[in-house]
Amino acid sequence: MNKLATTFTGLEFVNPFVLASAPPTESKLKILKAFESGWGGVVTKTIGLHPVENVAGPKTIYQRTSETKPYVSRMKRTETVSHSSWNWELISDKPLDLWLPDLEEIKTTYPDRMVIASIMAGAGSDEEMDNWSKLASACVNVGCDAIELNMSCPHMDRKDMGANIANDEDIIRSVLGAVTSAVSVPIWVKLTPSTSKLVDAAGAAYESGASSISLCNTFPSLPLMDPETMKFEVEVDGLVTSGGLGGLAILHQALQRVSDISKAFPDEAISGIGGIRGFREAFNFIVHGAGNLQVCTAAMEEKGSGGIGIKLIQELKHDLSDYLEHKGYSSIEEIRGIARHRVVEHSQVRRKSEVYNGGYSIAS
Ligand SMILES: Cc1cc2nc3c(=O)[nH]c(=O)nc-3n(C[C@H](O)[C@H](O)[C@H](O)COP(=O)(O)O)c2cc1C
Repeated sequence: MNKLATTFTGLEFVNPFVLASAPPTESKLKILKAFESGWGGVVTKTIGLHPVENVAGPKTIYQRTSETKPYVSRMKRTETVSHSSWNWELISDKPLDLWLPDLEEIKTTYPDRMVIASIMAGAGSDEEMDNWSKLASACVNVGCDAIELNMSCPHMDRKDMGANIANDEDIIRSVLGAVTSAVSVPIWVKLTPSTSKLVDAAGAAYESGASSISLCNTFPSLPLMDPETMKFEVEVDGLVTSGGLGGLAILHQALQRVSDISKAFPDEAISGIGGIRGFREAFNFIVHGAGNLQVCTAAMEEKGSGGIGIKLIQELKHDLSDYLEHKGYSSIEEIRGIARHRVVEHSQVRRKSEVYNGGYSIAS
């Protein structure tokens, strides 16, 4: 019996590990190699209909730290460990027409692996709403198993796109309306972690037909400046913009966001993302309620794998399988969400003395 098999949003996954929408899933060749290596699914690099032109410099850097000199930097040093990725890459620059035959071939070659098409359009007009439907229909028509709506890209100039729209529940409802009326596959909604209204946004998405929330995209952030050279570690002509932080550095924040949603909507599905680089991080997402796990930075960083995490997926599968076996669990469902009720209000945690009243005076 395959203990790693999961049913998530009605889809059968051979294992719960999925490559997130990013460079590891930007091309047919990479996706085919990822499936050959054992990944249970992929969310494609986000596909859109508007023109994309990336910055004239590196799109992603990998930041590391070390015990001897524990600062964070992309600079090459000996004996460092990974801290994070930082990127300002836009969505796929490959047009939909080129994606479609590739998606069809991928799905035909690996019918037992899940292909989720990540899509993004604007929100400022009826035409943009139609674009969401067009993208979704086109991807489903060539065999994609689900759609992930990108409402989370942290570096969009357009105010009606990416993370900029995830604060607006009306827009979330309209986009879901457009997509659910066009296709009948599961719809995952990828939200930005950088909003104080995340639970409301997730609620609006679930109510409007989302099968799952994918969380987190990268956190809006700036690269560091080197004190000697006075240059940012990534810049173009001396300029930077806010980009996205991913990798281990965001694990704890991502878990907190997943926990918030899982507590508010315990019966709904969540795909957990942010800082997964081994079994222990994946385990933490599962106990907070995630039934599916997406990985980006750790796969990109793996040397010799073409940025798709060949060793990583072997380790993830082996270590999760081993854990389930030695604990006597039949699948991740037996541990999913078990930490939910143990995340409480601050005042619900025992004090040394009885006199604490949540910060208020005790009524006389
Ligand atoms: C270079 C790069 C490009 C990315 N592009 C996309 C994208 O096109 N669409 C999307 O939804 N997320 C994108 N992401 C975000 C990842 O899918 C993921 O949510 C994030 O990196 C957190 O996961 P991690 O900590 O495993 O890296 C990108 C991330 C990186 C590093």
